[in-house]
Amino acid sequence: MASNRKSLLNPMMKQRARLADTPMRQLFEEDKNRFKTFTASAGDILLDYSKNRIDQKAMDLLIDIARKAGVEERRKAMWAGQHINVSEDRAVMHMALRYQGDKPVKVDGKDVMPDVRAVLAAMKAFSGRIRDGSIKGSTGEAFTDVVNIGIGGSDLGPAMVTLALAPYTRPDLRLHYVSNVDGAHIHDTLKGLDPRRTMFIVASKTFTTDETMTNAASARAWIANALGDAAVPHHFAALSTNLRACADFGIKSDRIFGFWDWVGGRYSVWSAIGLPVAIAVGFDNFAAFLRGAYEMDQHFLKTRLDRNLPVIMGMLGVWYRNAWGFPSYAVLPYDQRLSRFAAYLQQQDMESNGKSVTLEGKPLDYESGPIIWGEPGTNGQHAFYQLIHQGTTVIPADFLIAANPHENMAPHHDKLVANVLAQSEALMLGKTKEEVVAELTAQGLDKARIKELTPHKVFPGNRPSNTLMYPKLTPEILGALVALYEHKVFVQGVIWNVDSYDQWGVELGKQLAKALLPKVQGTAPAKGNDASTIGLLRHFHSLRGQ
Ligand code: F6P
Repeated sequence: MASNRKSLLNPMMKQRARLADTPMRQLFEEDKNRFKTFTASAGDILLDYSKNRIDQKAMDLLIDIARKAGVEERRKAMWAGQHINVSEDRAVMHMALRYQGDKPVKVDGKDVMPDVRAVLAAMKAFSGRIRDGSIKGSTGEAFTDVVNIGIGGSDLGPAMVTLALAPYTRPDLRLHYVSNVDGAHIHDTLKGLDPRRTMFIVASKTFTTDETMTNAASARAWIANALGDAAVPHHFAALSTNLRACADFGIKSDRIFGFWDWVGGRYSVWSAIGLPVAIAVGFDNFAAFLRGAYEMDQHFLKTRLDRNLPVIMGMLGVWYRNAWGFPSYAVLPYDQRLSRFAAYLQQQDMESNGKSVTLEGKPLDYESGPIIWGEPGTNGQHAFYQLIHQGTTVIPADFLIAANPHENMAPHHDKLVANVLAQSEALMLGKTKEEVVAELTAQGLDKARIKELTPHKVFPGNRPSNTLMYPKLTPEILGALVALYEHKVFVQGVIWNVDSYDQWGVELGKQLAKALLPKVQGTAPAKGNDASTIGLLRHFHSLRGQ
């Protein structure tokens, strides 16, 4: 018997069947108001979703499904501090971190805003003093390089934002991000740095993550070797919910910035985890980033579902995943500074909705989160767009573009804009056989050659995309964009009835790595594993010996 959710999603199949033979090209020809009908805005961000396989009837159904699945009730429950992260029994309150109002925001009966504001004030003071050089290293020199050591949510968010906001950074204060346990990462990062002028920020919600602790220990040794043990407290700060472990590591209490268990790792860039961003771009710009997210929160909380950007984007994703069976989704920013945006969204989306049981622990009888990937345009055009245009699988995509660049460098930005518009147009329109033949005939090719070439040059078209357009990639706009995707993931999690805020799927690999380490190090015998793992261990040891 189909689950309730499956029954709720099923009517999409009828709409799909109805639309299957009507390409978007035709929908555009038939409805001159299509752009007007299928665009919506949140503040300065415009979402054009007209190049999707939808008409009003299909959209009405998608919004109806969102309503029936309880998106509004669940949204209310999240903001009321209910423990919607059921498997970890936690509230999900990252919106409190950027809340700009003056009402109390309660989690388990306690107003969290005084603590949130106290940490923001401490971050402001600390980042300001690093930036003005009044906090110095052990030898009395100001810091020129700050290395954030963290992984997952304690890395991807601040690393992505620092890169995105590069126009707001200073050349004399450089931020670096070390995440991988691969020693190459920290080795190559530290290679050009001067320990006297280097500050480390150890960012870890739990302060137990092996990669981060291993990198932090290497960083500490690097400082101690160069400047002596006593220098360590001058060169380290920590961002964590585990204040005791930070102190045990040797970090001074006024350099420990806390947050709380109701902030998920992948939703933590707004918390103390954003400290490296505040150092890089200045606290005022970090505050603007929070304000932008707050504006998107207000849009999400208050706008009716059919005009609500996260709901529209979320439901279109559900449409393609569950009605059309498309397994992946591309995010394609036409902005070089958003080159880590897709990587950031991979964790935000795939760690949230890459689940196969319901909130109640029952197996899903429908698909959940898609594979998220992407690279900035125009580079992607010269790599994987061939498959997006002519491959056998359909990959819905989001294009992102700012109207104004930060640089005054004509004609770069106009070319960038022409390219992003061209791509969504090409994907939607395609190129028919007749058009190809006409084109080749006009080029003077003979009939035989035209026949030979035509199948290769036909584009199926009818490939869906959204375009997000905004005035400029400012801190406010970036904050709003990140919050938009957070809420999109929330909406989809409600539809799929999964716990979007746990991540048990990362545990098994961690456990096995821990058990394998002595076998890799040769302090335990290579036995008790499957034949492949034992074979690889033995081969590894034979290569090691060479
Ligand atoms: O990948 C699993 C995970 O728990 C993420 O959710 C988290 O962002 C990351 O590890 C890092 O965790 P921590 O901040 O506790 O070091």
